[in-house]
Amino acid sequence: MALLEIKNLHVSTEDGTEIVRGVDLSVNTNEVHAIMGPNGSGKSTLAYALMGHPAYEITEGDILVDGESILELEADERAQRGLFLAFQYPHAVPGVTVASFLRSAINAVRKAKAGGEDDPIKIPEFRKRLDAAMKQLKVPKEMAGRYLNDGFSGGEKKRVEILQMALLQPRLAVLDETDSGLDIDALRIVAGGVRELVGPEMGALVITHYQRILNYIKPDFVHVFVDGRIVREGGPELAEQLEAEGYETFTPEPVGGEA
Ligand SMILES: Nc1ncnc2c1ncn2[C@@H]1O[C@H](COP(=O)(O)OP(=O)(O)OP(=O)(O)O)[C@@H](O)[C@H]1O
Ligand SMILES: [Mg+2]
Repeated sequence: MALLEIKNLHVSTEDGTEIVRGVDLSVNTNEVHAIMGPNGSGKSTLAYALMGHPAYEITEGDILVDGESILELEADERAQRGLFLAFQYPHAVPGVTVASFLRSAINAVRKAKAGGEDDPIKIPEFRKRLDAAMKQLKVPKEMAGRYLNDGFSGGEKKRVEILQMALLQPRLAVLDETDSGLDIDALRIVAGGVRELVGPEMGALVITHYQRILNYIKPDFVHVFVDGRIVREGGPELAEQLEAEGYETFTPEPVGGEA
């Protein structure tokens, strides 16, 4: 049984436009999957649908985690099942330090796990876990005391995001690397963090329109996404082909021939 199984998924926006048009995809622990596709092909919409974003309606198909449908679950209940979406954190939060943000993120998952009862992590235990994660991911110590994303560089935001991932110990991390401002450092941080954390306990789905990031992450599987559908699947060599040829050759023939 797959950790995550997406079956014939169709997703529409609130105005009824179909963006994701029949996606099948399975992800297991120990696996890094990359979804690559041009701007506007529906990659982020797929990620939002996985997390239960209310602006997107699933009109057909199913999303299963450990064989159970999660369609009826709220975003926090999905997090409790082990899903983690990297872009799901607030922008600048003045007055909230990185450490306290991370602690409340952990507590939110603990609360959901305890059936809605508060079950806050003890401060010394939190400190221990934070220190260990920061060491593992080579995040500078002073980062913990800074205000969340307040004047953070792109790379620093990525560090906090990966740190959050390490602390929440999700089973499936979904990373939507939409930020065109990502520089090589930020890419390395994401790639290093994903590689460090993917293993018997975790799988990852990395969404990008960069070929570049895959030079660092080395996905086990590449899915080419065009116009709301997966049009080609393969191993890392597919990313190299994309690099050389672009998306053009992967675009399905237009219906009705040339205009
Ligand atoms: N909430 C929404 N309301 C209306 N249209 C939307 C909404 N969300 C997405 N869309 C449209 O759906 C299409 C796919 O958008 P999406 O953000 O999923 O693409 P993407 O593949 O992530 O692109 P990029 O590579 O630029 O991040 C776009 O045409 C976008 O305008
Ligand atoms: Mg996107």
